[in-house]
Parts: sequence; structure tokens; C-alpha cells
Amino acid sequence: MFGRSQSKRLLFISAYIKNVERLHFFSLGVFLCLLCASQMSLAQNDSRNIDIKDPHYQDTHLPKEFHQKKRNELRKLMPDSSVAFFFSNPLCRRSNDVYFEFHQEPNLYYLTGLTEPDAVLVLFKSPTSVDGEVVDELLFVAERDSLNEIWNGKKLGTEGVERTLGIKRARINKDFKESKIDLKGAKVALFLPFSDLLEDDKSIGYDLASLMSHADTKLKLDSVRRDDYLLKEFMSNLRQTKEREELEFLRSAIQITCEAQIELMKAIHPGMKEYESEAIIEYVFKKRGAEYPGFPSILGSGENSCVLHYVTNRRTLGWDDLLVSDVGAEYRGYTADVTRTIPANGEYSKEQTLIYELVLKAQLAGIAQCKKGKKFWDPHDAAKKIIQEGLMELGLINDPSEYRRYFMHGTSHYLGLDVHDAGLYGPLKPNMVITVEPGIYIPEHSDCDPKWWNIGVRIEDDILITNGEPEVLSDCVPKTIPEIINIVKEKSIKIIDPK
Ligand code: GLY
Ligand code: MN
Ligand code: MN
Repeated sequence: MFGRSQSKRLLFISAYIKNVERLHFFSLGVFLCLLCASQMSLAQNDSRNIDIKDPHYQDTHLPKEFHQKKRNELRKLMPDSSVAFFFSNPLCRRSNDVYFEFHQEPNLYYLTGLTEPDAVLVLFKSPTSVDGEVVDELLFVAERDSLNEIWNGKKLGTEGVERTLGIKRARINKDFKESKIDLKGAKVALFLPFSDLLEDDKSIGYDLASLMSHADTKLKLDSVRRDDYLLKEFMSNLRQTKEREELEFLRSAIQITCEAQIELMKAIHPGMKEYESEAIIEYVFKKRGAEYPGFPSILGSGENSCVLHYVTNRRTLGWDDLLVSDVGAEYRGYTADVTRTIPANGEYSKEQTLIYELVLKAQLAGIAQCKKGKKFWDPHDAAKKIIQEGLMELGLINDPSEYRRYFMHGTSHYLGLDVHDAGLYGPLKPNMVITVEPGIYIPEHSDCDPKWWNIGVRIEDDILITNGEPEVLSDCVPKTIPEIINIVKEKSIKIIDPK
């Protein structure tokens, strides 16, 4: 929204009033009475039934004690005489004065809970003097600005950051350049690899790009060595296993995603647009309180089922198409990642069935490996072996080494604040959450009988590693052929369903 559209809106309203003046006085009176009555009844309903409290930070996000604990754990990992710098994500320009929706850099979020841009967290291994005050953590954030808040809503400001997020000391980002951080005793400064996607306003001097260059200048002045790798390793070490609070949010994200997949199964039909299927998925996400999709929803039908990260979502579903629905709700920052492959007309063809059953068998073999002490790549190796054997039996490959023609990605990744979450790829440990998602994709013109062309199947579940058997967190959405066929026969209750 910007100024010019507001003046357009005023013109529109005045034109509307002129038209209304032409209405018969009596009908206008009746209209206004009805409008008032309906507004009053809405207001009454609001105040009677709806618990309106500010959800910002307090109730709906991780508690500040979680972030405090993680900052302390990181301090323990940091080498002696070191200081770590974390920067917020950039606000990315979409065009002119319109920006993409802001999403916080997950490490900064993990350590602070802050969801605003233009911020720097400075974390010291040991208490250090900054402008004469001895501190072990400092968060520089945007200053509150009443004019800006008219357009963009409230910011926390330094006071809010200290009170709500429990950061011991907050300062405004404008002060970062001049603040005297005593780095003389520091041997090493830890940074995450700098992003080169900084598309922000350098003219103000405290945008993200400027904050980063001020940090570099400070280090050079004090001859502190900069390390861009250690911090990534430390953060992966912390983030790869989940705390109880994180698992609660992940379970909610996954539950919502399963409901969305089931709703789509009920609504799917030939003639549906891929973007309609996306709308159904994302409607359920929002309806159930998820903030965003955790990644652009992948809804690929027919030939697009063979495009691994297809996000265009514009095609019309043909009669005998499969739809790969790879989606994940983000709930309180944590994202699900669940894939189901659904037949548009409610039946899998003979070839589709053979491929589907093979992928399912590979996925079950992968899940069986998701146990404490197994190597991170064991689920992939198990799934790969099944797919190699199956493709050979179907005559789709002549040698096991050719499997990559049709299964060209890994089987697992960590899941958490990021869809491809931070982790070290060592042995599996309790409270890690990983995906298991083998697939087979046979694009048109592949070197095989054309009866297989345009079949793409992926099946993806989210798995919690425990002290015993793997827990399939996404088993709330079925994946066997008979179960899916039965759900497709049902009618969607939430969405207008033309079936
Ligand atoms: N949704 C992307 C992936 O499965 O990795
Ligand atoms: Mn995945
Ligand atoms: Mn996925």
C-alpha cells in the first residue's frame, strides 16, 4: 500500500457517495439500519466470543527462557576470547517500494526470538566493555518511529527487546557504527557466511549491509581474526536436536499439513488448476493458525510431477495425471514438509501403481533406518537399494548404477526452523527430526517405453528419532493406495467442491 492508492480510494468513495445520493431516501434508510444492525451484532459476537489479546511474541512463540538457554549453550561452545555476530535477514525488495514478506534469519530467531530486520546480536564469550558498560550480550535493533509505525505496525524497540525477549542489553541499530566495543582482548570473531543478497537501503547507514560493514571495520581496527565457518558448525550442533517446546510447534505444523493434504485429496478432480490445489492447501494452513507455508508449495501435475522443486503451479490437471503435493505449514517458525502423490481422477493407472508401490516400499525401508546410532545417510542407502532393484525388475534401467536417471535427489534432510534445517549429518540422535522422501521421476522422452512417461511420484514423511522405534510424525495423512483412493472419493467439506 502506498500514498497514491489512498487518494484513489478517496476518489472512489466520493464517486460512490454521489451514486448513493441518487438512491431513494427510504431505501437508503433501510440499508443503513440493516448495516448498523449487522455491525452491532458482529460487535456483540466479537466481544462475547473472541478472546482478543495481543499474540505478538508473548503467547505464541518460544518462551524467552528457551532463547536465553540457547545463547548460554552457544557461549559454552565458543572458543576463549571470542565474540559472535549474528545479523538479521535482509528485507528483500520485490519491486519499487513493495517488499517480500520478511522472514527472520533462523539462527538469530533461535537465539533471540526477534522477528524484525536491521538487527545485530553481539554475543561475547566473556563479559566485555561496550561504551564503558560491561555486558555479555547486546542486541542492536531498529528504533521505534511513530511515523513508520503508522504504515508498518509496531516495533519492539530497545525497551521491548529487553522486557519481552529477555535480552540483557539492547541498543538502537543507529548506534552500532559508533559504539565502542572493546575487541582488543578478542582473538577471534565468529560470523555466519555473509549472504550476498543484501538488497536494502544503504543510504541510511544502519540497514543490514551497513551494519555488516561497520562490524568488519571494528574488527580490522582491533586486528581481530574473522572466522566464517565455526559459528555455522556450532549452530548446526545446537539446532539439530529439538527441545520439547520446538517439538510441540513441529507437531502442530505437521498436523496442520496433514489436514491440508487430506482436504486436497477430497477436493482433487481433473480440470482443477494446480493453483486451486495450492489455494486449498494454504487455506487450511491459515485457517488452522499457521503463519505461512514454510517454503513455496510444490503442486506439480502430469509432466510437472517430474520437476523436483516445481512452484509455478499454473497447469490444469488432466484426466489421468498424478499430482505431487509437497507442502509444509510453518507454525511459530517451525515448518513441516510432507509429500503425497494423488491421482486426479481417483485411480492410479497400472504403470502409476507399479511406480507408486516401489517408492512406498523404498520409503518404508528408509524409515526403518531412522534409529538412534544409525548414520545420517542410512535411510538414503536403504531407499536407494530398493529403488535400484525395482527399476531393474521393471526394465527401466539395465544396471543398478543407472538409478540416478529416475531418482536424482537425497532421501533425507533435517527439519525445523528451516525446511532444510541446520545439522551436522553425523549419527542419528534422539530428538532429531528428519524427512524420508524417496521419489521416482520419469520425464517425457526418457529412454524407456513411453507408457512410463510423465509419471512422477514422491512420498515424504517427517520422522522423529527416539530411543526406540522411529515416530512418523506425519502419519496423520495416509499414504497407501487403497487409503488415498478412499479419501479421494469423499467430498471436501471446507471448500466448494465441484466433484
Ligand atoms: N519440500 C522440499 C523438500 O522436500 O526438500
Ligand atoms: Mn523435504
Ligand atoms: Mn518436501
